[in-house]
Amino acid sequence: MVGTPRKHLIPFLILSLSALFLYTHYHSTHPLLSTPPRIEPNPQFTPHTNPATTTTHTFTLIIKVLTYNRLPSLARCLRSLANAHYQAEPVHLHLYIDHFALGDNDTSKKLEDSNAILDLVDGFEWKFGNKVVHYRTNNVGLQSQWLEAWWPSSDDEFVFVVEDDLEVSPLFYNFLRTLILNYHYNHSNFSPYIYGASLQRPRFVPGKHGNKIHVDSKTRVFLYQLVGTWGQLLFPKPWKEFRLWYDKHKSMDIKPIIYGMVTTGWYNKLGEKIWTPWFIKFIHSRGYFNIYTNFLHERALSVSHRDAGVNYGKTAGPDSQLLDETPLDFNLLEKQPLSNLKWYDFCFREVVPGRVVKSLDGVGSVLRYIQKDETVLLVSLFGASEAITRNLLCHFERIKIRNYILMGPHSDFLFDFARRGHPVVDVDQLFNSIRANKSMEFQRSNAKLMKEVLVKAYIIKKCLEFSYHSLLVDGNILFVDGGPFIETVDSAYDFYATRSLELFFVRSSSSSPKIWGDDFLNKVASMVDKVALPKESRNFLYIVRNVLGQKGARIKRVEETSFGTKISMIDVNRSSLGIGKKMVYWSAEMGLDIIQKELEKMSLWVVDGDLSCMAVVCNQS
Ligand SMILES: *[C@@H]1O[C@H](CO)[C@@H](O)[C@H](O)[C@H]1NC(C)=O
Ligand SMILES: *[C@@H]1O[C@H](CO)[C@@H](O)[C@H](O)[C@H]1NC(C)=O
Ligand SMILES: *[C@@H]1O[C@H](CO)[C@@H](O)[C@H](O)[C@H]1NC(C)=O
Ligand SMILES: *[C@@H]1O[C@H](CO)[C@@H](O)[C@H](O)[C@H]1NC(C)=O
Repeated sequence: MVGTPRKHLIPFLILSLSALFLYTHYHSTHPLLSTPPRIEPNPQFTPHTNPATTTTHTFTLIIKVLTYNRLPSLARCLRSLANAHYQAEPVHLHLYIDHFALGDNDTSKKLEDSNAILDLVDGFEWKFGNKVVHYRTNNVGLQSQWLEAWWPSSDDEFVFVVEDDLEVSPLFYNFLRTLILNYHYNHSNFSPYIYGASLQRPRFVPGKHGNKIHVDSKTRVFLYQLVGTWGQLLFPKPWKEFRLWYDKHKSMDIKPIIYGMVTTGWYNKLGEKIWTPWFIKFIHSRGYFNIYTNFLHERALSVSHRDAGVNYGKTAGPDSQLLDETPLDFNLLEKQPLSNLKWYDFCFREVVPGRVVKSLDGVGSVLRYIQKDETVLLVSLFGASEAITRNLLCHFERIKIRNYILMGPHSDFLFDFARRGHPVVDVDQLFNSIRANKSMEFQRSNAKLMKEVLVKAYIIKKCLEFSYHSLLVDGNILFVDGGPFIETVDSAYDFYATRSLELFFVRSSSSSPKIWGDDFLNKVASMVDKVALPKESRNFLYIVRNVLGQKGARIKRVEETSFGTKISMIDVNRSSLGIGKKMVYWSAEMGLDIIQKELEKMSLWVVDGDLSCMAVVCNQS
């Protein structure tokens, strides 16, 4: 015991709202984005290009105009499209004219209106490509107008969708063209997770209690999950994927509900009249992003006049200033590398994709951005399935836990977590890096255990170097209300362990880094390397308990039942969780279907059939 035993009531983990932000402005290179799937241009559509000598790509852009009965709006929209600057390549114009509902009264007036629209369209000359008109026989509404407007006929076909109350800038096409070339055809700036670009000025944050839209005044282009319906460029592959997803969900009668989203309220009110709740649900589940512009002074390349119609009961007037041809105070066509762009989610929270720790230096760059004097939650994903982990992460969002790092063996789902902004340790690669530095030799038969134990010990050591407490937990655990607390942390102890559950806390103190240093890691490695370790000792807790014992360090034993409830196949429900219980946990051997069933009973299964969170929870920052 060191000094007088002073019993303190130190929260074991201070998981308070503000303190817990792993809010990093850490710019990583995006390792996931460095080897994107290649888009091979279909030779049929690129007859004149020689891939050996040119980097330009032939793609087709189709402008899809969705209209119904607003003649002056449509006239203004078409005029602006015809006045824009185009290049040598063709740009096609497809017009979709919705019909009035049959059975409406006052039919003769409606027929007259339709004829006027058709006259306008027929008389409208389109010099830049083909003009195709689709005149409907019944009223289909906005959802079908959008969804049936396009099935890409190649991977090099793009569409720009405009509703008839929009007006575009003469500069819109040149901007879109450089955007497609830079973010779709330049491999170093391509991400398969970008579905298009919105030319409207971003103003709306759909996550309730989300942040205000705010980006740096030097930023011209950024990524944001939300779809924009006032001038939206769509990329072919994500759009096809969306249509298939929509068909599947619609046919299974699954509704596009995300709790905590304003758009879900729209769906509840307007139902199948609109399409955006479906697309938003799809984007949320896939973790995709849209490109947006920031031209300052309320300027945009596409503005909506918000004329009376499905979305507006009465005309609301233009939402932004159209960017015109007066000399601009910035270079419109200059495109930043993708790695410089910032990513924002439905709450307009910054997402930092691609934080994967693969080497010794990587650990520091992730930890450096966690606020000081905090506890880092190290979540071990050995043996935890993707579904369990996704459910866990939804709970983290729900109870505002932000300073965690996921650690697991190299896998696709681990990388997908990193891509979606969760910091991740690739245990296999970090282990190789540690081994190379230490020029370690060990028994092959112990490789798996060696990796897991040594990497965990190493990360804890790094946390101590950064003066963070660390709490190592297993993925087979859920924090229920506000995060894990152990009420009495005794300042006489630096190490806390539970008996069976993998839960291990290391307090950052003056003494702990002296114990948990290089020598400690070496001892851990040689202990793991003992061939004769019995099976029940082949785990992290056993090994570190032993090595700590050798070094004379004392471990505070924590009873897991004092703060957690173990679920088993015995009937458990939320009310039987017990007062003051902060978490539930289960044996790693339990089957996923049973875990899910038990968690559902306690309303703790919060992922949907796509394994995405049922709710978006914004915490204003
Ligand atoms: C025409 O429609 C309006 C509004 O839907 C309704 O109030 C009116 O009774 C209808 N008239 C006839 C002749 O059906
Ligand atoms: C592709 O993007 C990179 C990074 O932005 C840039 O350096 C390079 O010049 C671009 N290549 C082409 C052909 O534009
Ligand atoms: C490699 O190991 C040496 C000796 O243990 C240490 O001083 C050095 O910092 C390590 N390298 C890195 C990148 O951590
Ligand atoms: C929940 O569990 C408690 C105690 O086991 C039991 O009394 C209660 O009836 C259960 N409630 C439900 C809704 O199953």
